[in-house]
Amino acid sequence: MNNILNKNINVLGIETTCDETAAAIVSLNEKGESNLLSNIVHSQYNEHSKFGGIVPEVAARSHLKNISFIVAEAIKQANISNEEVNAVSVSCGPGLIGGLLVGSMFGKAYSLSKSIPFIPINHLEAHILSPRLFQNIDFPYLALLVSGGHTQLLYVEDLDKISRIGTTLDDSVGEAFDKASIILDLGWPGGKNIEKAAENGDPQSYNLPRPMIKRNNADFSLSGLKTALFRIAEKETLNKKVKSNLAASFQSAATDVIEDRCLNAFKIIKKINNNCKNFVVVGGVAANKVIRKRLTNLSKMKNFSPYFPPVEICTDNGAMIAWNGIEKILKYGISNINDPDFEPRTRWPLDPMAKPIRNAKEPR
Ligand code: KG4
Ligand code: ZN
Repeated sequence: MNNILNKNINVLGIETTCDETAAAIVSLNEKGESNLLSNIVHSQYNEHSKFGGIVPEVAARSHLKNISFIVAEAIKQANISNEEVNAVSVSCGPGLIGGLLVGSMFGKAYSLSKSIPFIPINHLEAHILSPRLFQNIDFPYLALLVSGGHTQLLYVEDLDKISRIGTTLDDSVGEAFDKASIILDLGWPGGKNIEKAAENGDPQSYNLPRPMIKRNNADFSLSGLKTALFRIAEKETLNKKVKSNLAASFQSAATDVIEDRCLNAFKIIKKINNNCKNFVVVGGVAANKVIRKRLTNLSKMKNFSPYFPPVEICTDNGAMIAWNGIEKILKYGISNINDPDFEPRTRWPLDPMAKPIRNAKEPR
């Protein structure tokens, strides 16, 4: 990658869209080599777990309380000074408005006080570009974004040039894991807990549905799977063995659905561009080892090269936000990306031309 600046730059990334207050420093040297210098994440799990889900007001207050410290810590651990930060990238949507206001106002104040550019970042785009911080992955590629808020299959031609080829019609995969975990009384957030419980379970012990399988598109539907799990769980005594078996059966059904939807996406992508051979999997659910393994095998079978970010970069973090800022600097030039008037957006679809789902006014 060309570094059009011909000097070393450090970008501060700030993430506050949901329930993580996070900041990171990514540097890019004269040779165009990137380096993650620090990555600080404060997860609000403990603050929300007693409610069984994210409470927006609690999230906003927690971001406000922690942001200064998290940013200071990211700069300290990167072993640089405030004067050595050349730009600040901030996740400006989609997300919860309280967190978006805290992150964007902090970032704007920081950029003004240091006279450096403020770069608004789309959180979803940051997930999708995140593997490029660690590996050389050329555009175009197919991306599977599986997070708590979104489940989408996307054709990524370039920065800011992304088309949606599949989406969920109801719950996201992450949401399904979170709800399954609550049904099985395994705590919140659920993805990690379901994966752990499933390690000791038999994935064939319960027969759960695989919604959308064999449908001739790349869309998802997961609410029926969650309801089926609920119906079985309410009849069972939820001891450790039963929980493990149900968690394993749920994870296996969800993975079968993901695999089948990706198979269709591979076919769709080949029709759009037969030379598209890269496949990236991102978002919190991409941290799941079973899903990583199954999708790795599937892509290899279908002649796609699979890429995943490191596990700690799958869930929300500042590193991917800083990296997206660097991608923008490289594409548009550092003097063209300052946008201090950008208003944070609770909804910010990657593909504004995609069809809204059901009665929605705009796509997600
Ligand atoms: O990307 P992310 O941190 O936040 C959003 O942008 O939404 O994703 C969070 C989601 C949660 O639903 C969480 O349960 C899920 O990712 N998740 C997992 C795992 N780790 C996190 N799902 C399955 N297996 C995991 N190991
Ligand atoms: Zn996310």
